[in-house]
Amino acid sequence: MAETTRLTVAVTGPTGTFGLALVPMLERDERVGRVIGIARRPFDPAARGWSKLEYRRGDVRDPDALRACFEGADVVVHLAFQVMTGNEETARAINVDGTLGAFDAAVAAGARRFVYASSVAAYGFHRDNPVGLTEDWATRPAGRLLYAQEKAELEHALQRAAARNPGTDVYLLRPPIVLGPDAAGGKQVLPAALAPVVPLVRAVMRGLPAPPVVVPDLPLQFVHQEDVARALLLCVLGAGPPGAYNIAADDVVSLVDVARALGLRPVRMPGAPVAAASRVIARVPHLPSRMAWVETMAHPAIMDTTKARTVLGWSPRHSALDALGETF
Ligand SMILES: NC(=O)c1ccc[n+]([C@@H]2O[C@H](COP(=O)([O-])OP(=O)(O)OC[C@H]3O[C@@H](n4cnc5c(N)ncnc54)[C@H](OP(=O)(O)O)[C@@H]3O)[C@@H](O)[C@H]2O)c1
Repeated sequence: MAETTRLTVAVTGPTGTFGLALVPMLERDERVGRVIGIARRPFDPAARGWSKLEYRRGDVRDPDALRACFEGADVVVHLAFQVMTGNEETARAINVDGTLGAFDAAVAAGARRFVYASSVAAYGFHRDNPVGLTEDWATRPAGRLLYAQEKAELEHALQRAAARNPGTDVYLLRPPIVLGPDAAGGKQVLPAALAPVVPLVRAVMRGLPAPPVVVPDLPLQFVHQEDVARALLLCVLGAGPPGAYNIAADDVVSLVDVARALGLRPVRMPGAPVAAASRVIARVPHLPSRMAWVETMAHPAIMDTTKARTVLGWSPRHSALDALGETF
């Protein structure tokens, strides 16, 4: 790394799952001199023992707030996003317009790098997606799930914007569900997928014996929040060339493992019929937005992480099963 001065890093959404894992690493890293964070709700960095982070309240929909936050930034890490929302217009304003606005503000500030937390969902859940997706496979909007559609749209838009602005390198990280002690997003998505067994989990938590429960054997990838944060840090430092990187824990688990981690007694059923049914349900008109997450079960979205290992120098330290255990 040729850079000698300490980096100023601006982070949108530093108070979410990713931010709470990344900021302590930025705080500890000697190569980072200053961290400025922006999100909407009140937050006291000192309460977390953080001294480098200057926290500002603001909204990514407000270009002036972004401009003020990014002033002097060498790197912008964009994490602010509304994962679950019933209102498509609000989601679009925060997620799509907010992300593109953040990129424009990063360019205007003269930032050398823009690091964006994309998702495995950017690949969509198409039947011809290989299991073991590599970064050269096309990202294509999902059929139904708005979150995944926005991720694919944003990746394409950011790649075009990067080509127009060669002074600002764009890094796109594609994690699967992120787990760990602060994993609010993952905790929201997983219980949605497991909604039918939630009453059973509650019963087990009250000390009742676990009844057997039929669970589809569908493969899943997870990644621990600390491993995501280390990948983000490597992008912040420019440890590898710009571009997209898949990241995930080494082990591919199944919904059966998830059920077991929740204290249930899973009885395995083949995943294929559930995948087929999910595909059909995802096409039902006027499906409530929360139900659209069923599309994620229509085809296994399993990534190959060789590029992040060999080019970025990243490797996961936590297994998916450990991450599950730490979350629940
Ligand atoms: N968690 C996962 O499992 C997962 C997996 C793959 C990809 N990702 C992606 O990773 C990124 C970060 O996810 P996360 O899990 O850290 O999300 P999160 O836990 O929901 O945190 C979102 C952060 O963004 C802030 N925020 C939301 N709306 C904002 C707005 N309008 N203006 C300013 N700040 C706003 C939130 O604070 P306030 O609410 O106080 O504003 C919070 O700090 C997202 O792009 C997400 O899609 C997440």
